[in-house]
Amino acid sequence: MSASIETTPQNAPAPKPADTRGLAGQTAGDTTICSVNQTQLIYRGYEIADLAEHASFEEVAYLLLIGEKPDAAQAKAFRQELAGMREISPDIAAALAHVVKGNPETHPMSVLRTGVSLLSHSDPECEDNSPEAELRKAKRLLAKIPTLIGACQAALDGRELPANDPSLSHAAYLMLMLTGKTPDELATRIMDVSLVLYAEHDFNASTFTCRVIASTESDLHSAICGGIGALKGPLHGGANEMAMEMLKEIDRDVAAGGTTVSEWMTAAFESKRKLMGFGHRVYKNGDHRAGILRAWGLKYAEQLGPEAKKWFDLGDEVQGIMLDQKNIHPNVDFPCGMTYFVMGIPVPQYTPIFVASRVVGWSAHVMEQHANNRIIRPLANYTGAALRNWNG
Ligand code: CMC
Repeated sequence: MSASIETTPQNAPAPKPADTRGLAGQTAGDTTICSVNQTQLIYRGYEIADLAEHASFEEVAYLLLIGEKPDAAQAKAFRQELAGMREISPDIAAALAHVVKGNPETHPMSVLRTGVSLLSHSDPECEDNSPEAELRKAKRLLAKIPTLIGACQAALDGRELPANDPSLSHAAYLMLMLTGKTPDELATRIMDVSLVLYAEHDFNASTFTCRVIASTESDLHSAICGGIGALKGPLHGGANEMAMEMLKEIDRDVAAGGTTVSEWMTAAFESKRKLMGFGHRVYKNGDHRAGILRAWGLKYAEQLGPEAKKWFDLGDEVQGIMLDQKNIHPNVDFPCGMTYFVMGIPVPQYTPIFVASRVVGWSAHVMEQHANNRIIRPLANYTGAALRNWNG
């Protein structure tokens, strides 16, 4: 008898089955767009750190939508094409302002979802799912989403929607829409990097939502509205806002006295509170996007001074305790919250910024789904009542 058989009790419990709720560990289809594994995030063959260092957001958008990296002339033409399509009709801007003014508590993600839906009605190719029309629609949406975000924020701030400046990159234009001011060079670079990091992530919840909608042969705008709905949730894109709100809460509670960061964290663990910006379905040893964005955000904070840097110090302390006590790493949304905060962006706009980038990944997936479509319709494991008669 081998030692291993001798030491295994006869009545040893069967190994715990893998928890597959939420489709954990399941592969739901093929894609050529993106690969996510424990150590790498790859867009069409290029690793994310390589892209974050060397490619602009527009170049990454071209890569994801068209399939290959652009040469210099193609990149310039693509950037100019996008910059020329940013305007939205005054009616749509007015409708969004009306929504915001009538319902000041409405979340900007809901306003953005309405904005994309409104854009669909005037898009001449809304119902055309051919690859050529879908690419044109994807570009129009990409170009106009910052303007939708701007229409919402301008209404909230009670200021005019700034005019388009076609010389600005997608990142700089987005910052103009969010703050009413043209950003400095470092802020533009950091926003650009964050958009590169957020652009694509294989079958995450919102992208999968888009693919399910596309698989019914529905249209791109409908899929993107669904994607926005899925991204809004705090377990997904909404986490970048919630991560910053959590840091503000810790800072407030510590400043009020009676608790330390460590005690606050212990209380959170005891109440089984989910800490926002931590954990990931795929990355169990850390999200490599987080380190890239933290380094850029910290650079901006250090330039501003101690009042800004204190958020990164607090973030590091929280991150250290989480790792030490729970072995859970931060995801990209954790440094994102702090970074956008020190850049002066209103917190409720963090997830709409995510949309201004991820719309590229969503559109690429809708096109890929339509190119080789079969309706996505899984089975359910029924666990309900046994068969019974209505009349007893
Ligand atoms: N805080 C506290 N505990 C956590 C956290 C967290 N942030 N994340 C995971 N855990 C616990 C979880 O409760 C579970 O414990 P137990 O086994 O006792 O039930 C254990 O760790 C394993 O969780 P998991 O199976 O790895 O989690 P999941 O794959 O079901 O969920 C997640 C992944 C990202 C939804 C989850 O980690 C979470 O809710 N994080 C906070 C929200 C967040 O930051 N979301 C952003 C995700 S990444 C970028 C994006 O999509 O925007």
